[in-house]
Amino acid sequence: MEKRPAQLERITLIPLEPHHATHAARLHILGQPGTFLTGLGADVLTVLYQTLPLSQAGFGFAAVDPSQPHALLGFVSATTSVAALFLELGTRRLPAFLPPLLRRFARHPALAARAAQTLAYPFLHPAPAQAFPPAELLSIMVEPALRSAGIGALLVVALQAECRRRGISALDVTVDTANDAAQRFYTRYGFAYAQTFSLYGRSMRLYRAKPTAA
Ligand SMILES: CC(C)(COP(=O)(O)OP(=O)(O)OC[C@H]1O[C@@H](n2cnc3c(N)ncnc32)[C@H](O)[C@@H]1OP(=O)(O)O)[C@@H](O)C(=O)NCCC(=O)NCCS
Repeated sequence: MEKRPAQLERITLIPLEPHHATHAARLHILGQPGTFLTGLGADVLTVLYQTLPLSQAGFGFAAVDPSQPHALLGFVSATTSVAALFLELGTRRLPAFLPPLLRRFARHPALAARAAQTLAYPFLHPAPAQAFPPAELLSIMVEPALRSAGIGALLVVALQAECRRRGISALDVTVDTANDAAQRFYTRYGFAYAQTFSLYGRSMRLYRAKPTAA
């Protein structure tokens, strides 16, 4: 039988914290090359991952080796309201968020139009008020050298348990249609295909899990 890397024997899941943000940004860039968020760069992503765990609308888990709790082996992040998260970035966190964003736009002007589209989307398409609104899995990333060893499974199972604890009835995730491996992964953990749509000219698929139905 294949031996698990020694690091995995000690792995622990802890709530995602702002001090994980730099590593989360690094793993995001490694895990999602060529996407819009990755295009925003490490500094912008770091502010995003600092903001998410502090927001009432954000939550997630970090996979760590307890002897080095600041170094992420993997993480998962989710939100009950993308609009609330963006609002926080655009108000309380603006002094941290704006300078790296403007620096990035100065170097890659095409990103500005996409960013405006992304930031406006949840306000132009507000989710209907519900007693228990659905949550969205924003990102799940595992250190490349440690993939396919079960860390992603630990993270997604913990996220679903947290959704159940919060009474969240639906957990959505958007996947690039070309990312077959990620779709296999989500299907294995209770997500079912819901619809295909186009985002920035790319074909994307929405998958949905029902944590409270389990
Ligand atoms: C998706 C991901 C988080 C899974 O974590 P993991 O620790 O490798 O997951 P597990 O070991 O529990 O399960 C392995 C499964 O993950 C999927 N997977 C493996 N490598 C992958 C990759 N590079 N990209 C996407 N999914 C992958 C496959 O379904 C794999 O099953 P298989 O070995 O039967 O093909 C991880 O592979 C990753 O970080 N991928 C890059 C980022 C990404 O695509 N995230 C999802 C979209 S937000």
